[in-house]
Amino acid sequence: MFVLICATLLFSVRGIHAETGASVWGRQYCEAGTFCITLGVADITAEAGLCVVIPCSFSTPAAFKPKHIVWYKCKTSNQRCGDSDMIFHTNKHSTKVQSLFKGRVSLLQPDVSQGNCSIFINDLTESDSGAYQLRVNGLLDGISDGFTYSERAVLSVKGMESYNKY
Ligand SMILES: *[C@@H]1O[C@H](CO)[C@@H](O)[C@H](O)[C@H]1NC(C)=O
Repeated sequence: MFVLICATLLFSVRGIHAETGASVWGRQYCEAGTFCITLGVADITAEAGLCVVIPCSFSTPAAFKPKHIVWYKCKTSNQRCGDSDMIFHTNKHSTKVQSLFKGRVSLLQPDVSQGNCSIFINDLTESDSGAYQLRVNGLLDGISDGFTYSERAVLSVKGMESYNKY
């Protein structure tokens, strides 16, 4: 049910940009050569109690083989999220994921090699608001490596009260 609602939202995000004539649903940011991330063009607003999709895709240099996707969430005023801000890891055994996010975050496309980092988050609360930052862990020429993308998705979750004003 939640997945269905979120899927519909994702579709409408794409639809809006299709109408403006843009060729993609988001904007691509590249750094360190060919580590690129595409995020939606606008900040995301969602309602507490519901769910949200953060649309995302990424690419890496050919020599880098992605194995795990990690998401962090921190205050937008923090320039970069840190290890203690981890909210999702495709390695289910990771012990650093914040307990408040455990079981609420899922990848839309579980196959990491597809370069699809879109996540959906269930049971939103206002404290889920913030900047969401992606890290991809993998192998660079066979050696363990990882890359944290600087560009972040910004989510604001509003309680019912904020909506009643309108
Ligand atoms: C990611 O995968 C989901 C599920 O297959 C799909 O709906 C979505 O469009 C994909 N997003 C991107 C950015 O490719």
